[in-house]
Amino acid sequence: MSEKKAKVADNIQHIVSLCKRRGFIFPGSEIYDGLANTWDYGPYGVELKKNIKDLWWRHFVTTRPDVVGLDSSILLNPQTWVASGHVGNFSDPLVDCLACHERFRADQLLEEKLGEGCCAGKNFDEIHQMMVDNKIECPSCRKPTEWTKPRSFNLMFKTRIGVVEDSGAEVYLRPETAQGIFLDFKSVAENCRQKVPFGIGQIGKSFRNEITPGNFIFRTREFEQMELEFFCKPGTEMEWFAYWKKYCMDWLYGLGIDPAKLRMRDHDPKELSHYSNGTSDVEYEFPFGWGELWGIASRTDFDLKAHQTHSKKDLTYRDALTNERYIPYVVEPSLGVDRLLLVALCDAYEEQELEGGDVRTVLHFSPKLAPVKVAVLPLSKKEPLTAAAGDLYRTFLAHGIAAEYDETQSIGRRYRRQDELGTPWCVTVDFDTVGEGEKPEQKGMVTVRERDSMKQELVPIDSVVARIAELLAK
Ligand code: GAP
Repeated sequence: MSEKKAKVADNIQHIVSLCKRRGFIFPGSEIYDGLANTWDYGPYGVELKKNIKDLWWRHFVTTRPDVVGLDSSILLNPQTWVASGHVGNFSDPLVDCLACHERFRADQLLEEKLGEGCCAGKNFDEIHQMMVDNKIECPSCRKPTEWTKPRSFNLMFKTRIGVVEDSGAEVYLRPETAQGIFLDFKSVAENCRQKVPFGIGQIGKSFRNEITPGNFIFRTREFEQMELEFFCKPGTEMEWFAYWKKYCMDWLYGLGIDPAKLRMRDHDPKELSHYSNGTSDVEYEFPFGWGELWGIASRTDFDLKAHQTHSKKDLTYRDALTNERYIPYVVEPSLGVDRLLLVALCDAYEEQELEGGDVRTVLHFSPKLAPVKVAVLPLSKKEPLTAAAGDLYRTFLAHGIAAEYDETQSIGRRYRRQDELGTPWCVTVDFDTVGEGEKPEQKGMVTVRERDSMKQELVPIDSVVARIAELLAK
């Protein structure tokens, strides 16, 4: 069969429905009619997510001599968020449509019409005036409506520690993992004898009470981040900033993400956050348009300085060679796990119309990302095919290769199912394999089918595990 026409996901609903149908991602709390914008990762989703996190950790932490890892608490002393500016500044301008009373982020509505960065540096009165001047329509009732004046809405979730219901016991769920790294900077530098320049990487959950979550797992209230804070000598930060931008982009290319759908957007100086002297976003062209995937920021010494002031603890670093003391500058590549997972899905998705009008849906994952690496399929449910296939399946598992065994339905349907899971290889055990077919010369041989080309090749059953392991190691 040859490919006639190819169609990539132009609608996020194709991805959402494939994810549910194939056990990647389900809507959260479904048996209670759901909880809006929460998602659960099913058996294949959780493997895909784990592969993403493992690959990031290996590339950004384990294999680098200048980066160490950390797993800090989600609940931090609330002073952390006062010092970091999250209590004062981590808020969005919230507006209500006076016609239908739906709530929106004024900056998002304006950016959709006027372009990114249009609200940078503007106060709430100015933002309100821009809404009026540009006759911003309500996305819900579609009227060029009247809006309430913007109100500040802090995005941090509050909870309480212990049994006392007073404000003294209030804490926040962290809205980023980064601050935990800053709090432990001194301990890591001193106890683990790290010398600047060095980095601390962390993967963990973050929480934001987003006003407008949506687009599937693109923007949710509970998500995971993979963050690296790289501490360097003041004055060297722009070199490191350029270095990390390239390092991040090269890693995405290495995962097989389509370069044509990736771009680096440098922030306009007036768009920069209060702590940054340079920020760039890696953006991806999702089915719903270009969106931020990865924020890479030069954060100056803002965070360490702020924590030094608020905690009254010395957070300076002493250079052992020169005896110089300084607060390091920080470059931060900050990536959402769920967002990269959505990129991996959108980028891999394809509907192919085959000769004869048949359509197959394929996820072209790079083998590194694929949740299942190989499927073992006996051609028929009969012995001794199932015994031979079962043995082969267990051998794959014993070698640590994520494998799946499937003996139900026709072989064609089973191939289609594995194509939808993004499994790079299917190994078929047939009657010839076990010496009961019409081709005695093919005894002991299995058929390996490659997902993208659908090409099939005969391989001795004794060497197929080593062969797949070799392909995976590439
Ligand atoms: N420490 C810096 C920081 O958190 P950010 O740009 O707010 O910066 C970094 O977030 C990354 O985290 C984003 O580029 C995105 O990949 C991910 N992210 C942020 N908010 C998210 C949300 N509500 N849902 C899913 N991912 C999110």
